[in-house]
Amino acid sequence: MHDLTAIVADITEEMQAAPDRGRPADYIPALARADVSQFGMAIVTADGSVHTGGSADEPFSLQSVTKVFALTQALGRVGDQLWDRVGREPSGSAFNSIVQLESEQGIPRNPFINAGAIVVSDVNLARGAPRAALAELVNFVRYLADDDTIAVDTEVAASELETGFRNVALANYMKSFGNLRRSPEEVLDLYFGQCAIAMSCRQLAMAGRYLMAAGLNPTNGHRVVSEARARRINALMLTCGHYDASGDFAFRVGLPGKSGVGGGILAVAPGRASISVWSPGLNAQGNSQLGTLALERLATRTGWSVFARGAVADS
Ligand code: DON
Repeated sequence: MHDLTAIVADITEEMQAAPDRGRPADYIPALARADVSQFGMAIVTADGSVHTGGSADEPFSLQSVTKVFALTQALGRVGDQLWDRVGREPSGSAFNSIVQLESEQGIPRNPFINAGAIVVSDVNLARGAPRAALAELVNFVRYLADDDTIAVDTEVAASELETGFRNVALANYMKSFGNLRRSPEEVLDLYFGQCAIAMSCRQLAMAGRYLMAAGLNPTNGHRVVSEARARRINALMLTCGHYDASGDFAFRVGLPGKSGVGGGILAVAPGRASISVWSPGLNAQGNSQLGTLALERLATRTGWSVFARGAVADS
């Protein structure tokens, strides 16, 4: 067994003192003010023990990490039909890139780049109102995290609505190819609201448990998704969860992971743990600088990489 308490304490101490902390996302004004001295971390293991470090109970803007939960919802709604409208390949491009959409007829490469998540929002909107669809997603993450206090930060949502011109372009472009059913305005209303969900590291690690537990909700043993679907969502997180840095994340950490420009990352050690880290300073690809480093340290100390032999991974 690994001494996770000591490992989390060591990593937190190192991250709190780290000199190179990255820069907060500045294209969303409400996120630009984030304090880069912050670092938080939470691990929930398969046996239910929780290990936290730093600002693990401080809520932060989840941003693209919500794409995992929205994808789970959309697959529940339309199943494999989703893949007629969104691909399953890494893009090798930035999270907000538009370049591939023209040659690929408005079909985004995967559900984790912005274009793909906007199609997922269109699916989740179905025939309802954006506000109702957002409430459904918030209820879903509350259920997963077993925490009814999780909410949307309306200031962040408003800030992005005012400045999200790239997403407006992506939505309109896909609409022109017929890949959105609803209006770009309605779809983005849901998408921006979704990105503005706030959670702490502890809440996020709790919400990710179904992905480490083969699709089950450990709180009550109920099935959230099939084992096959949990495996596939993990596969997409590994190959696409960090945009054009997904290869580097697999190389350094070796776990399915999803980042957000709020500085959070959800990582999954299948069968072992649901892990979340947060530090608002980002690297050049828009992923948390210290969050990635902390996960690299954790994977090294535990041997939890999915590419490891497993001999040291008996925790
Ligand atoms: O749509 C956007 O640009 C943001 N709301 C989310 C982007 C994001 O988190 C990308 N992650 N690294």
